[in-house]
Amino acid sequence: MTRLPFLLLFAVSFLIAITFPPLIHALGSGSTLAVAYGTATVCAIVASEPNQRIICYRPGNTNSSSGTIIPVLPNISYSIVAGGETTICALRSGGFSLLCWETNNQTFPEKRLYSNNTVSLQSLTIGEERICATTNTSSAVTCWRPIGNTSEISPDGNYTMGKITSGSGFSCGIVLSHNNRVSCWGNSVATEIETQFGNMSMSNIEAGVSHVCGIDSKGDIICRGNNSTGQLNVPLNKDLNFASGLALGEGFSCAIRRSNGTVVCWGSMTETPVADVEFESIVSGLNFTCGLITSNFSVICWGPGWPETMGSTSNSSRQILPLGAQILPGKRAIFKSDENGGTPVSLVDYAVPAIMAGELARVLDIRVGPPELNETEAVELVAYIAINCVNLEGKERPTIGDIVSNLERALTVCDGSHGSISSSGFSIVSE
Ligand SMILES: *[C@@H]1O[C@H](CO)[C@@H](O)[C@H](O)[C@H]1NC(C)=O
Ligand SMILES: *[C@@H]1O[C@H](CO)[C@@H](O)[C@H](O)[C@H]1NC(C)=O
Ligand SMILES: *[C@@H]1O[C@H](CO)[C@@H](O)[C@H](O)[C@H]1NC(C)=O
Ligand SMILES: *[C@@H]1O[C@H](CO)[C@@H](O)[C@H](O)[C@H]1NC(C)=O
Ligand SMILES: *[C@@H]1O[C@H](CO)[C@@H](O)[C@H](O)[C@H]1NC(C)=O
Ligand SMILES: *[C@@H]1O[C@H](CO)[C@@H](O)[C@H](O)[C@H]1NC(C)=O
Ligand SMILES: *[C@@H]1O[C@H](CO)[C@@H](O)[C@H](O)[C@H]1NC(C)=O
Ligand SMILES: *[C@@H]1O[C@H](CO)[C@@H](O)[C@H](O)[C@H]1NC(C)=O
Ligand SMILES: *[C@@H]1O[C@H](CO)[C@@H](O)[C@H](O)[C@H]1NC(C)=O
Ligand SMILES: *[C@@H]1O[C@H](CO)[C@@H](O)[C@H](O)[C@H]1NC(C)=O
Ligand SMILES: *[C@@H]1O[C@H](CO)[C@@H](O)[C@H](O)[C@H]1NC(C)=O
Ligand SMILES: *[C@@H]1O[C@H](CO)[C@@H](O)[C@H](O)[C@H]1NC(C)=O
Repeated sequence: MTRLPFLLLFAVSFLIAITFPPLIHALGSGSTLAVAYGTATVCAIVASEPNQRIICYRPGNTNSSSGTIIPVLPNISYSIVAGGETTICALRSGGFSLLCWETNNQTFPEKRLYSNNTVSLQSLTIGEERICATTNTSSAVTCWRPIGNTSEISPDGNYTMGKITSGSGFSCGIVLSHNNRVSCWGNSVATEIETQFGNMSMSNIEAGVSHVCGIDSKGDIICRGNNSTGQLNVPLNKDLNFASGLALGEGFSCAIRRSNGTVVCWGSMTETPVADVEFESIVSGLNFTCGLITSNFSVICWGPGWPETMGSTSNSSRQILPLGAQILPGKRAIFKSDENGGTPVSLVDYAVPAIMAGELARVLDIRVGPPELNETEAVELVAYIAINCVNLEGKERPTIGDIVSNLERALTVCDGSHGSISSSGFSIVSE
């Protein structure tokens, strides 16, 4: 009954599912993948290493393929990365500090913008220069840069903000405290877009340069703002209901189909070169898009503005970045299971029956590799802790004290190469 492999990763995935909002990404919105479009620099959070560090890639010129990989210092764990024109910022895991790097300086000089051990940052976004984040206090949004421009509109201090996103000169957020309506601040485009969204209730929004698209309560994609190249013209009958990701550039918009993870774009750029690729997430610069591929967690970039076209026609060019590492996906709480004919299923509904059936391998992250024999029991123990934590009956769930002592036991099982503790010894209050 101990055929249950490598479970610590289940716990990790599970935590990621809770930590990350189910829908994320784009021109300067926080995710595990970001671009600084001014220098075509792509940065991402690495998975399967002791540190969730950040690596960046900058393509070479069109004549040579010598792009460069830039490891970002300090080499510590991050949870969210966002990009603007020539700035990349990331939240350190836990959200208590915010670090930024200038991508137009080869040395990637680091700057700490925020550090506070009681108030943590949540959603993060950069548009050109403006960097904004939400805190876990009731106050709405904190922004750094541009400093002291009094002609800018500020976000209403009384709003409790969910996801925030930035375009060129403006930012918008979903106001959780006002029925998920859209509020925008910054330049005059902000006022226009906020007015056009009116009191519509949105579950996700993403900004391009001068337009914003979002998903309303019916799952439809709604776009507002500049329509100069048809970027608001959401194609009908393309199976885009409840899109699982959005990425907007200067004159185009892209969405990930929830049904099969493929990307659809409209406006000035189409998805031709990646029509069959399944994506976890996508992010756009002004005139190119990058995505995190579901099958192997690598990153691919495409579009007329992606520099490394190597002689191919701009409409079909694409490049898989030679990052040499797999990228953290930020697992969605609801995902598509092939076993159920591709219907959306929640992580809990999928994982609990698999664990109960002794098929732990199905819920573990394949990127970590199977657990050693001596780790198997610990993994199993963690799986059972996870199951108990998602019990629908609140009073059946373990207390924090139970969780801590059981996790400590799991550690003991790993540490001591001697002896083992049978998972039958797992105990919580309700047993
Ligand atoms: C690329 O190569 C072409 C022809 O070999 C040359 O004319 C052009 O200047 C090169 N461009 C760059 C950016 O090196
Ligand atoms: C980052 O730190 C981890 C250990 O925490 C180490 O394994 C890894 O090699 C380091 N990466 C770089 C690029 O220094
Ligand atoms: C690049 O960053 C380094 C280190 O912060 C700094 O000394 C240098 O002046 C910067 N270069 C430019 C061109 O800004
Ligand atoms: C953290 O933020 C809170 C609220 O803004 C503030 O009262 C406190 O002084 C800050 N702590 C530090 C160490 O800056
Ligand atoms: C913010 O998060 C920290 C750490 O989880 C917690 O100590 C603090 O009480 C939270 N603040 C609010 C207002 O929720
Ligand atoms: C926030 O609400 C309080 C009381 O409802 C009000 O007095 C204050 O003007 C509001 N602040 C803003 C920025 O709207
Ligand atoms: C200040 O903001 C206004 C409105 O967005 C903008 O027109 C102006 O250029 C900004 N000024 C500076 C110095 O950034
Ligand atoms: C939204 O606004 C319209 C008119 O602009 C109004 O008829 C409708 O009741 C409002 N809906 C909500 C939920 O406030
Ligand atoms: C956007 O532009 C397209 C043509 O490019 C047009 O068909 C469509 O109606 C426009 N949509 C909006 C909302 O203005
Ligand atoms: C994904 O779904 C769309 C619409 O349902 C379909 O047209 C397309 O062929 C599918 N692509 C793949 C690779 O399954
Ligand atoms: C893409 O945008 C960049 C600015 O970010 C610009 O320098 C470049 O010329 C654009 N490329 C194309 C093909 O439009
Ligand atoms: C499990 O055993 C392998 C070799 O058999 C060893 O390399 C590894 O460190 C052990 N793992 C733990 C957690 O003790």
